[in-house]
Amino acid sequence: MFTYCNNLSVNDYCNLRESVGWPFICDEQARSGLNNSDYIISCVDKGKTVGCARIFWDKGYIAYLADVIVDPEYQGQGIGKKMVQECINYIDSQLKEGWRIKIVIVASKGKEMFYEKLGFKTRPNDNDGPGMDMWRE
Ligand SMILES: CC(C)(COP(=O)(O)OP(=O)(O)OC[C@H]1O[C@@H](n2cnc3c(N)ncnc32)[C@H](O)[C@@H]1OP(=O)(O)O)[C@@H](O)C(=O)NCCC(=O)NCCS
Repeated sequence: MFTYCNNLSVNDYCNLRESVGWPFICDEQARSGLNNSDYIISCVDKGKTVGCARIFWDKGYIAYLADVIVDPEYQGQGIGKKMVQECINYIDSQLKEGWRIKIVIVASKGKEMFYEKLGFKTRPNDNDGPGMDMWRE
């Protein structure tokens, strides 16, 4: 039985990133990202943090879903789905009368179907081009 929490330490976050081979970010940058997230969810099994996801939202119409990670030893057990659904529920809870909020995710290659099952639209499509990004160093 997994426990879901609304916090995540810098150490656990960096370990999860490392577990799936994502690029290193320094503790200061990791802490800043976590501190400025509007919603964080983590999954814990017997004291070990095995998954995370977070949302930051401009308090207007754009929210960004980021860092959806499940430790490879725990993948395929519904943890990712549960965490993303809770992130969506958080945004739903912020909607006011007449509002609409777009949740954006830049899916890693091969993960598109995971997000489609949760209601996201793959880009490019008939209306939208591909997502684009840029790193600054
Ligand atoms: C992507 C990731 C978060 C999925 O988490 P998970 O806990 O393994 O996924 P779940 O067990 O919750 O799967 C939920 C559903 O998505 C499906 N699914 C999961 N990964 C999938 C994939 N890569 N392609 C297609 N379907 C996938 C599952 O089969 C399941 O389908 P079902 O509801 O019909 O049974 C996890 O594989 C991961 O951490 N990967 C490495 C990091 C990463 O790339 N994160 C995404 C960044 S955008």
